[in-house]
Amino acid sequence: MSLEATETDYSNLAIDSETADKLFFEGRTANTFSEDPVSDEALETIYELTKMGPTMMNNQPLRITWIKSQEAREAVVAHMLEGNRAKSLTAPALAVLSYDANWHEQFSEFFPHAPERKAMFDDDAVMRAEIAKNNAWMQAGYFIMAVRAAGLAAGPMGGFNPAGVDTVVNEGKAHHSFLIVNVGTPGENPWFDRLPRLGTEIATNSI
Ligand SMILES: Cc1cc2nc3c(=O)[nH]c(=O)nc-3n(C[C@H](O)[C@H](O)[C@H](O)COP(=O)(O)O)c2cc1C
Repeated sequence: MSLEATETDYSNLAIDSETADKLFFEGRTANTFSEDPVSDEALETIYELTKMGPTMMNNQPLRITWIKSQEAREAVVAHMLEGNRAKSLTAPALAVLSYDANWHEQFSEFFPHAPERKAMFDDDAVMRAEIAKNNAWMQAGYFIMAVRAAGLAAGPMGGFNPAGVDTVVNEGKAHHSFLIVNVGTPGENPWFDRLPRLGTEIATNSI
C-alpha cells in the first residue's frame, strides 16, 4: 500500500461496510457544525461506548466535562488558539477531556477483586500521572470513535492552553485537561482535504 489513496478494502472485516465507513473510512474530523442540537441522551451514549474501551488495570483515568453554559464555553474558548475558537463557539456540544492524576482513588471501584493493589501507586505521583496520561489518551481515541458510532462528527483539538482551561473546568481537582472535542452534525464545508495516511511499509513491520 502506498501513500496514495487506495480503494477501500472491506474484505476480512467482521463489521458491515456501512459501519466500517461510518467509523473509519468516511469518518472525518468536522471543522464546522450545523445548529442541530445534540441531546443529553446522545452524550450519555457516547460515554457508555467510550467507557468500554480497555485501559491498564481497568483504571479509566479519563474525565469528561461537557460544557453546557455559554459562560463556561466562552471561558474555555478564551484559552484556545485563535484558529480553533470559532469551531468551539459554534459546536452544538463541547467536551473537555482531562486525565485524573489521582485515578488510583477509585481503585476499589474499577478493580474490586484486588483493591489492595492500589498500594502500588500510593507513593509515586510521577508514575501515576504518566499512567493517567497514557490511558486517558487511549480513552480519547475511544471517545472519538464513540462520537462517530452515535452518528455524530467529532473535532478533536489540542491547540489550547491546558493550565488556562484547568482554571475553568478543573479548579481544586487533580484533573488536567489534554484535549477539547467539538461534537455535532457537520455544517457547511465541514471537511479539510483528507490527508494521506501512512502505508503499511512505513507504519508496520514484521520480525
Ligand atoms: C490529538 C489531536 C489534536 C488536534 N488538534 C487540532 C487543533 O488544535 N486544531 C484543529 O483544527 N484540528 C486539530 N486536530 C484535527 C486533525 O488535524 C485531524 O483530525 C486530522 O487531520 C485528520 O482529519 P480527518 O479525520 O478529516 O482525516 C487534532 C486532532 C487530534 C486527534
